[in-house]
Amino acid sequence: MTLSVLSVASEAVPFIKTGGLADVVGALPDAVAPHGVAMTTLLPGYPAVMAKLGKAKVVHRYESLLGHPGRVLQTQFDGHRMLVLDVPTLFARDGGPYSDASGKDWDDNWLRFAGFARAAADLASGAIKSLAFDIIHAHDWQAALSLGYMHYDAGRATNARSVMTIHNMAFQGYYGAEIFAKLGLPKAAWSIDGVEYHGGVSYLKAGLAAADAITTVSPSYAAEIRSPEFGLGMEGLIVSRADRVSGILNGIDQAIWSPETDALLPAPYSARTLGKKAPNKRALEAAFGLDGGDGPLFIVVSRLTWQKGMDILLGVLDHLVGIGGRLAVLGSGDAGLEEGFQAAAARHSGRIGVRIGYDEALSHLMQGGGDAILVPSRFEPCGLTQLYGLAYGCVPVVARTGGLADSVIDANEAALAAGAATGIQFSPVNYETLAHAITRTIRLHERAPLWRKVQRNGMNADFSWTQSGKAYADLYARLLADG
Ligand code: ADP
Ligand code: GLC
Repeated sequence: MTLSVLSVASEAVPFIKTGGLADVVGALPDAVAPHGVAMTTLLPGYPAVMAKLGKAKVVHRYESLLGHPGRVLQTQFDGHRMLVLDVPTLFARDGGPYSDASGKDWDDNWLRFAGFARAAADLASGAIKSLAFDIIHAHDWQAALSLGYMHYDAGRATNARSVMTIHNMAFQGYYGAEIFAKLGLPKAAWSIDGVEYHGGVSYLKAGLAAADAITTVSPSYAAEIRSPEFGLGMEGLIVSRADRVSGILNGIDQAIWSPETDALLPAPYSARTLGKKAPNKRALEAAFGLDGGDGPLFIVVSRLTWQKGMDILLGVLDHLVGIGGRLAVLGSGDAGLEEGFQAAAARHSGRIGVRIGYDEALSHLMQGGGDAILVPSRFEPCGLTQLYGLAYGCVPVVARTGGLADSVIDANEAALAAGAATGIQFSPVNYETLAHAITRTIRLHERAPLWRKVQRNGMNADFSWTQSGKAYADLYARLLADG
């Protein structure tokens, strides 16, 4: 039997990406397909999505979707069905998916993602006659309200089961009470079991309260969000629904992230031909104006934010350079951090190079040419850049939290002796621990045969979607069997 799933998300590669959510949503249809799951993806019709869509047919029209005319377009992409919600007044704007070109959030995000969620719930209950879904799988707050709508849609019974995946608990879609009346939800939804949260409306909470299953993107993060530090206010709800909560580690899409076949690398290589990484390192040095040298070249590919521990890293840069390291940083985010990294590059010309912005191709060259990737996150639901680092022999140096803890084996002497180490871990995230982790990395790099072994261990580890694709498919099947 083929199981039909509607995956509802605000981003998916190759259409639109601001972070790891897009990588995961883009990879899921292929990941679950071998296990009898046909996955349709629903995206908002931002300009970038509309431009890449190609030929699509109109399968549904809205005279008024929460007051806005629109339509649902259907097409096939990479062998999977795709639906796009085209509502020009909500989505046809320059800038990012959530903010304008200056980085300021759109004032009407509450309406944009309520409209998106409303459409997903309509699809769940058969708005398009030819499309039936067994499972609605909502990702993050932008899709979460769809499960709230489904729950409160009296008289529009659907048998579809629901899954809510938390990719990041820090974004909860929280708005003032005044929007409630405009969402088209019944009064009953304004309750502690509904969308109400601390006197306002939380979209993520609505999804968490209504979902038949809640997942997050690593087992460790699934445990961490039971505490206030990581649950960020949702811990009570998570604990009360604990029997529904599980963690499924993200995989990586090997069609895009494999050093053997990566067309964005000057010199492709494998675990057996690690020597061929050298030309990529030279190209990376050139791209960032760094001095040549055999010492370790660290990289960072990241949002420059507090979550990612980038303020702590800034403080450690003099130490990193002082003990012989070099660093290439690609990222964007908080203005203060961007300036801080640029100032560090000016101070350590030839040793630190910084590129502010978003550059997919450059991120591949960095994994291909870098010796070690720094991921000092304060919390990290899964993290993908350390997984890319593992696959590319770019040794991850990570905080021991969430998916970072679940994917990297620390190179302590026992793990080195057992031949199991894949990276360096440290905890908690502060100046001393990060500085020490960087020192350890540089010392390990000097022990060349051991370093090679750590690189190879990571490259040979399996972070494909094989296991996690099956885990999602099993979860869907269980939900249907439970009825
Ligand atoms: P998050 O989604 O929290 O930002 P992840 O590690 O899960 O963190 O995913 C980040 C994704 O975005 C990765 O694919 C990473 O390579 C990519 N990325 C982050 N910043 C940049 C950038 N400045 N340029 C190119 N890719 C980036
Ligand atoms: C979020 C998290 C990140 C995770 C990604 C994909 O952006 O911050 O840790 O890898 O979602 O699940």
